[in-house]
Amino acid sequence: MKIMAANSNLPLARAIAAYLEMPLVDAGVRRFADEEIFVEIHENVRGEDVFVVQSTSYPANDNLMELLICIDALRRASAKRITAVVPYFGYARQDRKPGPRTPISAKLVANLITEAGASRVLAVDLHAAQIQGFFDIPTDNLYAAPVMAADIQARYGDEDLMVVSPDVGGVVRARALAKRLDNAPLAIVDKRRDRPGESEVMNIIGDVKGRHCIMIDDIVDSGGTLCNAAEALLAQGAASVAAYISHGVLSGGAVARINKSALKELVITDTIRPTDDVLDSDRVRILTIAPLVGEAVRRIADESSVSSLFD
Ligand code: R5P
Repeated sequence: MKIMAANSNLPLARAIAAYLEMPLVDAGVRRFADEEIFVEIHENVRGEDVFVVQSTSYPANDNLMELLICIDALRRASAKRITAVVPYFGYARQDRKPGPRTPISAKLVANLITEAGASRVLAVDLHAAQIQGFFDIPTDNLYAAPVMAADIQARYGDEDLMVVSPDVGGVVRARALAKRLDNAPLAIVDKRRDRPGESEVMNIIGDVKGRHCIMIDDIVDSGGTLCNAAEALLAQGAASVAAYISHGVLSGGAVARINKSALKELVITDTIRPTDDVLDSDRVRILTIAPLVGEAVRRIADESSVSSLFD
């Protein structure tokens, strides 16, 4: 078994390799002068079970292309099995047609990864679990919830907690986290979004008065959803609001918005390599999912159970 990294999240790839006590495959993922991507694998991978770690985060198209070209290079080098380890699966929010004459880009990306030659996929907190069905190859979807729950217990375990889903679509995820937190009560923010990229909080379903609220979601992008929801929860009498989010996309001025927000803290994982803004923020904290992904990789290689990681 071998671990190879493209460029989007080298610190995470190195941490996964360290967990597995093995070096990364000796390979170069470089750019030609015109920005074309060139991959060269400097060691034999014939007959190997290779895991390529690459989040398709910003710049999404470049990082996706790197992943596809790495897979192609491995396939042509006769790797026995190639697993695309995509901790953050970009384009996942385009998982259905929101209107007539629009694409389902998540499906297109799944097709591209499969056609490039991947034998399996390993992702973390896919935006919608059904995206697994976009692949006709085995796809494991890991959950950051156990890592988050351990941190919440350590930080907020003595408080009167309430788990909050910042939108109706995230209720299943929030309920799963609440279950891990000794069946903490659940509230839901009924968010209405009139235009893409804008968010508006309408209603809080549940009594949050005096509660320490833990919002959970898969993605924080502009930060609008979280900042608006935090204000709405505090207006309803919540004692404090923190957010635990799997993927810190944090585009544009998101970190500045979070820094000025009513959120006590934003906790993200390292599925996406944090920018300097994120690292400099005293309002954002990062949990690593390297041991979780590393353990899943080990189990896939050993052909043992991955789901039992979440029992
Ligand atoms: C939407 O369905 C997602 O789960 C997130 O709530 C959304 O992507 C967050 O976006 P933003 O931070 O831009 O409000």
